[in-house]
Amino acid sequence: MEIHLHNIRDYSTNKQKSVDDYQFGGGAGMVLMIEPIAICIDKLKSERRYDEIIYMTPDGKTLNQQEANQISLKENIIIICGHYKGIDQRIRDMYVTKEISIGDYVLSGGELAAAVLCDAVIRLLPGVLNDETSALTDSFQDNLLAPPVYTRPEEFRGMKVPEILLSGNHKLIEEWRMEESLKRTKERRPDLLD
Ligand code: 6GU
Repeated sequence: MEIHLHNIRDYSTNKQKSVDDYQFGGGAGMVLMIEPIAICIDKLKSERRYDEIIYMTPDGKTLNQQEANQISLKENIIIICGHYKGIDQRIRDMYVTKEISIGDYVLSGGELAAAVLCDAVIRLLPGVLNDETSALTDSFQDNLLAPPVYTRPEEFRGMKVPEILLSGNHKLIEEWRMEESLKRTKERRPDLLD
């Protein structure tokens, strides 16, 4: 896994090195200009081929586990982080292949969202996680929330670990975990079961 950062200011075409401008039609907020982003992407595309050019934006499709799984299968990806009111629409029309949001709230810029996307994807790559932290049993991996987990001691201030987990009966334990997953999902995220 390699991440390369590209500062679009390095691709500005004017001597003030500006990368944003007022929006046509008026209105509050600056827009990231088309030229620095286009020149930067063109340069990157001349060096290797990209499977996806992702724009991080609150009006994109909300990131979920299925999307993270899909992206983890790609080789080279460009992630564009917007700022201010966003990027010139023509970049989105000409270059962007996927628009992703990380939830229904607004961040100051796409950088933290991009970091979230990278973390969700990188931990799925072969060799990143070991058996103990395997992504296969994560919440959402089968559209279910993960079951409760316990570790030693068996009893703490009168609170006991469910008997079944101490039974050594793996089949019954798996059944219990599945029931707990379903129960938790029904209570907290019934939308996942639709
Ligand atoms: Cl991807 N960007 C910004 N600026 N805000 C967000 C977001 C992205 N996802 C949720 N809020």
